[in-house]
Parts: sequence; structure tokens; C-alpha cells
Amino acid sequence: MAFKEGSGIEPKRKNKQEGGKMPNKVFQYFKDLAEGLRVWPSDQAPVPMPDNYKEVSGADLKENPTRMDSLLDCYQAVFGSGDIWGEGAVCQKCGKVVSLEQGQSSTSCECGGEYKPFFPDEELKARIFQELDEQEYKSPFCMVMENPEKREEVVGFCWGLIDTPAKIAQRIGKNRYQNDDVAGELVRGELESRFDADEEVLFIDELGVRKDARGGLGPVVFLTRMGFEKAHEAGVKKVLFWTARKSPIYKICRHSGYEDFFETPDGLVFLDLEDLTPFLTMIQNKSLMEDAVILSKAGALLK
Ligand SMILES: CC(C)(COP(=O)(O)OP(=O)(O)OC[C@H]1O[C@@H](n2cnc3c(N)ncnc32)[C@H](O)[C@@H]1OP(=O)(O)O)[C@@H](O)C(=O)NCCC(=O)NCCS
Ligand SMILES: [Zn+2]
Repeated sequence: MAFKEGSGIEPKRKNKQEGGKMPNKVFQYFKDLAEGLRVWPSDQAPVPMPDNYKEVSGADLKENPTRMDSLLDCYQAVFGSGDIWGEGAVCQKCGKVVSLEQGQSSTSCECGGEYKPFFPDEELKARIFQELDEQEYKSPFCMVMENPEKREEVVGFCWGLIDTPAKIAQRIGKNRYQNDDVAGELVRGELESRFDADEEVLFIDELGVRKDARGGLGPVVFLTRMGFEKAHEAGVKKVLFWTARKSPIYKICRHSGYEDFFETPDGLVFLDLEDLTPFLTMIQNKSLMEDAVILSKAGALLK
């Protein structure tokens, strides 16, 4: 997920300064559903977390290079595949980005330049360690989904942190827009106008599941649940997420009560949820089958 450098960004925005908020029908629906139900400590929730979902820290990944390599493979496959993001390789000369599938057919671009992986192993590894660094960020977290039949294989991931909007903007800038101050400043401005400066927010930074491990709401629900639980324990209510409309997660978010408040011309959307409690209550108390029915009813409210 990256802005093209010098993309002349003029955001479409909806924020506090623009006439207040519309009532969010979906969020209200979730609030009503959560009436009379409670949030549980994770291991006591009526819906248990399947044991192939594991929390990992930066230190765990340092001690277990096989797991780290599998996480890198998973990340590169998810974002490199042409089905959604297509960030497989980038031409060193003209900057053209191709998917893994396209890149495989040739090592060089039609302009004569060489392709380099979009997410080179060492850079990605350094970024993951940095993003999970507890000295650097207040509450970074990472959840991985293991292949149930081959536990050493990571087939899904979700990582993020709980921190202030300024710190989140700094993280986004540092990791995505080192060469694009305009985009970095833009994100900072948008987050500063959407959230109070001292309010801590749960930021779901990265989420992905290998194509062959998708199916049903399970991966999305269980990969994100721990972040919600940590935020809830810390008394944090708001969630920030970013994606593209072309990602299936966009619809899942909208059907879970998120609002998109800012979109860049090249298609990145920032969404937020005003209070994670009703959603967390639902996923801890109701089965995945019930969750799907609820989401589909929520979707109908948006029509
Ligand atoms: C994001 C990602 C994990 C979402 O998972 P997904 O399986 O593709 O998501 P889907 O939209 O297919 O939804 C999963 C299931 O929930 C169901 N569902 C989703 N929204 C629903 C709704 N409103 N009502 C009822 N069911 C719903 C779907 O029917 C689907 O079930 P099925 O597999 O039985 O058909 C995956 O697409 C991915 O890894 N994408 C690449 C990375 C990415 O885009 N990450 C996002 C942030 S950058
Ligand atoms: Zn080229």
C-alpha cells in the first residue's frame, strides 16, 4: 500500500469540521445487538479463539527465523498477487509495478529496466521488526494465522498498534512515504482533524490472508479480535483502518459500522469506527454463522 511519489494529492475528505456526523445506522444496529451481552477476557469468551491463531512479538520472530520467513512469504504473496493489490515487483527504471504473476514472465520491463521485488525480504523484515518494536511504539501487536495442517506455515497476519494520532501518522509516514513528504503531511493533517490529539486509537495497519486460506469470516474475525481485545482492556474505543475500495475488507468494514473519512486520488481509503465495543461483543459472543447473518443485515441498512 503506497502512494505514487509526487501524485499531486487532493483528498476527498469528511471530518469534524464539515458539518458534523450523520447518524451511523450500522453502528447503532451493532449497539442494539450488544445490549445485554458483555465483553469477556479473551480466554473466557463464549466463542473461543481457534488455536491456529497466535500472537507473536518482535522478539518471538527474532527467535524463530522460520516463522519470520513464512510471514514474509505470506505478506509478499498476499500483496503481490494480481487479484487485489498486484504489488509484486517494480521496474527500477520507469517505476512500473507488476503483480507476481506478471513479473514471473520476465525479469526485465519493456522499458529495458530490471524488476526488483516490491517488498524485498530484508526491507520488509526490518519494517516488521520496527513496527513491532515495543521501545518505539506503545502497544504494537501482531497476530498470525497458521495453516491448520502445517503449523509452521503462516497463512494470514494482522498487525497494528494502539497509540495517539500523531504517532500513528508518524509511523505511516516513516514506513510508506519516506520519499513523499506531501503524502505524509496530508495523512497527518487528516488524522489530526479526525481525532483528538491525546486520544489513543487502535490502528489496524496490516491485514491479509493467503488466497487458499480464505473462506468465511473466520480469518478476518480471529486475526483482528486480539487487537480489539487489547484496545478494550486499555479503555480505547476508536479504530482506524486503511485499505482500498477494491479490497474485500472495505465492504466488511462498512458492514461493521466503519465510516470512510478520507480518500486519496490513487484509491487509499481511511476508515474509522467510533466505538469497537459493540463489534467486539458480537464476535466474542456470536458464532461466525451468526456474524455473517448480522453483517448481511447490516449491509442491507446501507442500501
Ligand atoms: C482482506 C481479506 C483478508 C478479506 O478476506 P476475504 O476472504 O477475501 O473476504 P470476503 O469478502 O470474501 O469475506 C469473507 C467471508 O465473509 C462473508 N461476508 C463478507 N461480508 C459479508 C456481509 N456483509 N454479509 C455476510 N457475509 C459477509 C463473505 O461471504 C465471505 O464468506 P465466503 O468465503 O463463505 O463467501 C483478503 O481479501 C485479503 O487478504 N486481501 C489482500 C490483502 C488486503 O486487501 N488487505 C486489506 C487491508 S490492506
Ligand atoms: Zn520499466
